[in-house]
Amino acid sequence: MSGSGWARDKAGVAAAWAQLRSLAPTTLAGLFAADPDRTGAMTRRIAWPLAPGSEAEAGMIIDFAKTHLGEAELAAFEALAEASGFAAAREALFGGGIVNATEGRAATHGALRGSGTEAQVEEAEALLARMGMLVSAIHEGALGEVRHCIAIGIGGSALGPALAIDALTRDLALIDVHVVSNIDGLALEQAFAACDPQTTLIAVASKTFTTIETMTNAASALKWLADNGVADPGGRVVALTAAPDKAVEWGVDETRVLPFPESVGGRYSLFSSIGFPVALAVGMEEFAAMLAGAKAVDDHFRATEGRANAPLLAAFADQYYTRLRGCQTRAVFAYDERLALLPDYLQQLEMESNGKSVTLDGEPVDGPTAAVTWGGVGTDAQHAVFQLLHQGTHLIPVDFIAAIAPGDDLDPAHHRTLLMNCLAQGAALMAGKASEDPARAYPGDRPSTTILVDDCDAAALGALVAFHEQRTFANAVLMGINPFDQFGVELGKAIAKQIDSGEGDFDPSTRALMAAAGLA
Ligand code: F6P
Repeated sequence: MSGSGWARDKAGVAAAWAQLRSLAPTTLAGLFAADPDRTGAMTRRIAWPLAPGSEAEAGMIIDFAKTHLGEAELAAFEALAEASGFAAAREALFGGGIVNATEGRAATHGALRGSGTEAQVEEAEALLARMGMLVSAIHEGALGEVRHCIAIGIGGSALGPALAIDALTRDLALIDVHVVSNIDGLALEQAFAACDPQTTLIAVASKTFTTIETMTNAASALKWLADNGVADPGGRVVALTAAPDKAVEWGVDETRVLPFPESVGGRYSLFSSIGFPVALAVGMEEFAAMLAGAKAVDDHFRATEGRANAPLLAAFADQYYTRLRGCQTRAVFAYDERLALLPDYLQQLEMESNGKSVTLDGEPVDGPTAAVTWGGVGTDAQHAVFQLLHQGTHLIPVDFIAAIAPGDDLDPAHHRTLLMNCLAQGAALMAGKASEDPARAYPGDRPSTTILVDDCDAAALGALVAFHEQRTFANAVLMGINPFDQFGVELGKAIAKQIDSGEGDFDPSTRALMAAAGLA
């Protein structure tokens, strides 16, 4: 029995890995040659209504054909999923089970978009309605003129909103939102310079409402309002938190505290009230579309078995590359300016969730866990880092993500060139090229997965986020680890406090650096 209450058949897990290790390595060319329908067999589509209530669909396809998973690997990974208790773990996730065993909590981010127990979904809907009322009231002028919002938060309380706002407000923002995370005062000063204090709202986003960066930035933002003659600076603050009492204690009026459940993890909180700045910028209808896209992925993830399940199949590929091919990183390239922040977002989601060394039972893991997630934007990255992908000594599985519909109104040559480059890179990585000149030879047989959304809109963004959340969960279940805690971030925070107080047993190097930096 695992620490989270579903059965993990350790012997079955070991047998599946033994089977996987015994298989002769596949080549991409060999896999395509062996199966004329490989592309169809390895492509998944997830769809959602084009608009609420519409019969017409939009969606995304995920093409896994250029990964090294052949029939034998897929069968063994399906056996691994079964031995890992995947189906029961998934039901525990959606059924409010204690999937976060080390903190004794459920993980109810699914309920935010309607995928959870009745009680959790009802609670989430009530909180969403409360957020919607405040968003509408602000849009209608209840807090006076609001043209700007400085959204203060860090990590999971900033990366999701920053991604969504950057992706969805290229054409129009109802309110101009600046997400500020870093404690470096330059970040906040940059936001101040872009906002008029008389028409600026401050949104303080913190699950715990204790994070030092966020609380320091929030205090400085309040001071900025006061220094600039805003009569009631406190009246311009909205708190987004799972600790409403702390927000009230800090001075935010209860009517402007938007709570979310403790069981929603920080990096899984975009669809909770942490998404308030997104809703301010794009409106509640667009926010609901984002939820609908995420729900479509949840429904697919919940109802689909084995290799047909896209997030699970992605996890099979992730496990294959980290554990069988020794890949220490995986790269994500968004061929869309609107998704420029997606690699940053995925870094936290994947690395904070699955960067672990012990299993749910507290035992050392039996192999590497999360790969280092990194990436960038195409085509820019092609001219900067792709050399290593094509000819370097590392094997790096790549995800390409693009939208079929253009986001710009310029000559269609722009979008056509963007897409053709995206597809060319996956093809080139796989095919390689022989040459008599070793410097000009491409080894090829390098893997990639390509995700194409019909359009990069709110629903697609919600779907992309949920796809990666569920992929992360599936990876965790296969490895038998808890993706929902993050104790690894605490030690550094504690030592920072000791440096502040000067009371601590510091090593000589840190002591010297403290003196050099004027902190001793
Ligand atoms: O230090 C890591 C972390 O706890 C993340 O998990 C979290 O998203 C971030 O800090 C911010 O935390 P909070 O929302 O409580 O301010």
